Amino acid sequence: MQTFDDYSALISSERESRANFKTMLSCVLPRPIAFVSTVSEDGVSNLAPFSFFNAIGSNPPAVIFSPCTKADGSSKDTIINLQSVGEFVVNVVPYGICLAMNDSSYPFAPEVDEFEAVGFTPMASRFVKPMRVAESPVHMECKLRQIVPVGDGPLSANICVGEVLCFHIASDYLLDDGTVDVEKIDLVGRLGGDDYSTMRDRFAVAKPRLK
Ligand SMILES: Cc1cc2nc3c(=O)[nH]c(=O)nc-3n(C[C@H](O)[C@H](O)[C@H](O)COP(=O)(O)O)c2cc1C
Repeated sequence: MQTFDDYSALISSERESRANFKTMLSCVLPRPIAFVSTVSEDGVSNLAPFSFFNAIGSNPPAVIFSPCTKADGSSKDTIINLQSVGEFVVNVVPYGICLAMNDSSYPFAPEVDEFEAVGFTPMASRFVKPMRVAESPVHMECKLRQIVPVGDGPLSANICVGEVLCFHIASDYLLDDGTVDVEKIDLVGRLGGDDYSTMRDRFAVAKPRLK
């Protein structure tokens, strides 16, 4: 039997946010990565990865991700762009673009076009203003539905809820039933710190059936 005593209870309100952040990253993993493109009111393209990300429903198809408030209390460019433009694209991250995706997490100034800065090719979207990342095999064009703040200081969450208006799946990965060839696409997930995982080692578990 495992033991959970008083010393193993880490009470969040008694800890620094940075310590809670590190604990959480080590508990919730691997996390999928949304490589998000947005555009500023002035037309400057922005790219940033977010692993506080997930799919949350399919009627309509919806996703959430959370650009947290920065350590100095200011907002990330992604949130500022969403507040003014209200649209974004989620690009997925296969192993082959992981290093360049990571480069885009550098805190570039808002006037820097991050496609240019890290070497990705912009592709026009069909329904939204932000560009798609041509090197990513799946793009989801999204309309912002809501931003839900959780807390208000440094490292607090800003949950961005988006409705997916259109999925673009590169033909090499698109299966006949409109899904993605998960074997071939080779997506990566985020662990803690500098670590990532692949999904090359998979196993299946059949759904439970009533007897
Ligand atoms: C793989 C990866 C995942 C990340 N996930 C998040 C996240 O979920 N939330 C967050 O606030 N920052 C996250 N970051 C850091 C942001 O990408 C980084 O702060 C970025 O500069 C924000 O860009 P922006 O200011 O252009 O919006 C992540 C970084 C990496 C490399």
